[in-house]
Amino acid sequence: MDSSLNDEKKKRDDENGEYLITYISHLEKRIHNLETERELLDAERLRLERELNTLKNEVEGLKQPPLLTATVTDIIEDKRQRVIVKTSNGPSYLVHASKKILDSDLIPGSEVALNQHTYAIMSILPMNLEPFVKGMEISENIPNVSYEDIGGLEEQIQEVRELVELPLKNPDIFKKIGITPPRGILFHGPPGTGKTLLAKAVAHETNTTYIRVIGSELVQKFIGEGARYVREIFNLARQKAPAILLIDELDAIGAERMADSTSGDREVQRTLMQLLSELDGFSERGDVKFIGATNRVDILDSALLRPGRFDRIIEFPIPNEQARQEIFKIHIHNLNIKDDVLIDKLVNLTNNSTGADIKAICTEAGMFAIRRNSEIIEQKDFLNGINKVLNSTKFNKACADIFT
Ligand SMILES: Nc1ncnc2c1ncn2[C@@H]1O[C@H](COP(=O)(O)OP(=O)(O)OP(=O)(O)O)[C@@H](O)[C@H]1O
Ligand SMILES: [Mg+2]
Repeated sequence: MDSSLNDEKKKRDDENGEYLITYISHLEKRIHNLETERELLDAERLRLERELNTLKNEVEGLKQPPLLTATVTDIIEDKRQRVIVKTSNGPSYLVHASKKILDSDLIPGSEVALNQHTYAIMSILPMNLEPFVKGMEISENIPNVSYEDIGGLEEQIQEVRELVELPLKNPDIFKKIGITPPRGILFHGPPGTGKTLLAKAVAHETNTTYIRVIGSELVQKFIGEGARYVREIFNLARQKAPAILLIDELDAIGAERMADSTSGDREVQRTLMQLLSELDGFSERGDVKFIGATNRVDILDSALLRPGRFDRIIEFPIPNEQARQEIFKIHIHNLNIKDDVLIDKLVNLTNNSTGADIKAICTEAGMFAIRRNSEIIEQKDFLNGINKVLNSTKFNKACADIFT
């Protein structure tokens, strides 16, 4: 009896034991599952925390007042390191820079963002070449002007060919002889005498990139940034080499420095200094040529005219009789004219006129013919054209005299 009882007890214990083992393993599995679940939740929590942070930052950012943009025009080297900035809407301010900004990053010409209330510099904006480059006329091999389209400037063409074409086409000859090829040329002469025209023609004939920048735009459009702009143009020319870089209206940045200089003058001077330094360190390889053009060589800063800056100074005079004849021929070439048109007569009537005047006369003559409902231009149309163009230039000159 006892033994059967014992047997039964043992059996029950065994069963309990088994049950417990299964139960424990079940619990272990649950623990494992719960742990995995906790890990997942932890990961989720981390993700949400991160998202929360981003959103908080965004809210902070949205709550911030807008920053003003400005350009650094000068840095005052004293203990407090103050900076003069020019805001995009006009006025200049003397401001401090945030501690986060390294002094070395602040240079005249940098674009910066200002706090709206204190005008302190909060950050420096990345330099961007694009918007500057947009303001220029750049063309690769495009100016569709050849030497044949230029009348009465044989000597000038000859000289430019020697100075520009030869070094571009045959740089080795300069190396062999041991001289540095000429780098810069200055064109000067009254308006409309073909300076820009010849620069374009050289670019065309030498198959080079032609970059034209206008001096007055440099100082007006890019107030406070002229110096940086000059640097970028020269960089661009180097990138696009072989290239011809023409700075038209050079007098706008290269005029003699006056004693009583205003802040605007100082800006112009900085631009000029940058130009001078670019000219000095300029392409030894001779594959970038610099041409400056001006009709006020008399007011140019003597630093610009110092030997070594411009290797040659070429004058573009008002065309004489023979030159005017050639220019008329060039511009009449494509026109439909009657045989009664006598070029010699036109030449005689246009004393002191420039190439640009002659071109305008031809266009006006065409307009007079159109007004007459004619398809052919007659001598009288030219006479009317001369009358109109020359009287209007006289009128313009008179106006200029009154206002200066
Ligand atoms: N020697 C010339 N032969 C033929 N055309 C000419 C000549 N000179 C000027 N022209 C005509 O006049 C236009 C204006 O000339 P251009 O732009 O070269 O003058 P510029 O000397 O650069 O004047 P500015 O000093 O005002 O810039 C030319 O596009 C061309 O049509
Ligand atoms: Mg010109």
